[in-house]
Amino acid sequence: MKHYSIAATLILTIFFNIRCFSQPKPDDKGLKDYYKNYFPIGVAVTPGQLRDPAQRSLILKHFNSITAENAMKMGPIHPEEDRYNWRDADAIVEFAVANGLKVRGHNLCWHKQAPKWIFLDQAGNTVTKEVLLNRLKAHIYAVVGRYKGKIYAWDVVNEAISDNPKMLLRNSLWYKICGEDYIAKAFEYAHQADPNAVLFYNDYNTESPEKRERIFQLLKKLKDAGVPVHAVGLQGHWSIIDPSEASLNASITRFSALDIDVQVTELDMSVYTDGNIVEQASNTESRGFSADREYKQQMQYAKMFSILRANKASITGVTFWNLSDRHSWLDNFPVRGRKNFPLLFDDQLTPKKAYWGVVNF
Ligand code: GLA
Repeated sequence: MKHYSIAATLILTIFFNIRCFSQPKPDDKGLKDYYKNYFPIGVAVTPGQLRDPAQRSLILKHFNSITAENAMKMGPIHPEEDRYNWRDADAIVEFAVANGLKVRGHNLCWHKQAPKWIFLDQAGNTVTKEVLLNRLKAHIYAVVGRYKGKIYAWDVVNEAISDNPKMLLRNSLWYKICGEDYIAKAFEYAHQADPNAVLFYNDYNTESPEKRERIFQLLKKLKDAGVPVHAVGLQGHWSIIDPSEASLNASITRFSALDIDVQVTELDMSVYTDGNIVEQASNTESRGFSADREYKQQMQYAKMFSILRANKASITGVTFWNLSDRHSWLDNFPVRGRKNFPLLFDDQLTPKKAYWGVVNF
């Protein structure tokens, strides 16, 4: 009897020790596996990353959706009226098809990274509304048409809402030339080019209550007019202090009420707290990935994903904006040359604490 109880104690002790001290096994599962009952997990990529063996295998292990970081934007893909540069976009789509990944197309109409020619005539004057809409249509037909059946969703219009809370729409060249019509037209052209594609309006600061309402207003107007807008993209350029769980939850709830899908389309989490302040001089924060920032980032990622999981009926995808801390647009924004650490993998491609915050639930 005594022997049995010693043996049992021994077995229990070993079991307890294995459970407590076993390290997470990074090789077992990827993000997409942890989230298989929730939503696809995507990442913005460059063709160079797909050619690099280490980054390619990290992408394949963790993600089941990809987006071109830049290659499908109007400027890069359509640099002159009669010239399309398909090479990079094709490489990304071919990679996705070969490996069974979904592709989100990004984006068709934006005030940034748009080629100059599209707004100008031969003499360098601004074109008429009719000419600009015809050019937009030709562009959308060509790009969406080329990848029809391979790209399941498109960010059709990006960031059309003004940064001025008193205005609805941004006073961009699109708006100056076409008025608000360019938005509905872009969605109609995209729908004509691929009736099966899920069409998104995509924007940032979507958790700010006042901007949330202006986006809601725009989407409602479009929906009421029968415009084929199917989903909203919350870019998700967040930070370790923002947004709150309540405001993320409120945005998802509010937009879903329009009977549209919601995705987080460009997720990263700055370790700095100066948000979108572009002035370098105004930035007085210390730099670097301190233990405190590491902890706060893990907590904030964990909180955001718990809200996303709780809303899985509305959320149809979450895409990270870049793969690892090796490369992020936040290394140059809002402060040029200031290294940021916004992603789940460090510059050695190793999962950070933030990663475990996202997958341990
Ligand atoms: C916006 C765009 C993205 C990307 C980021 C960061 O959010 O939608 O394509 O350019 O800015 O640069």
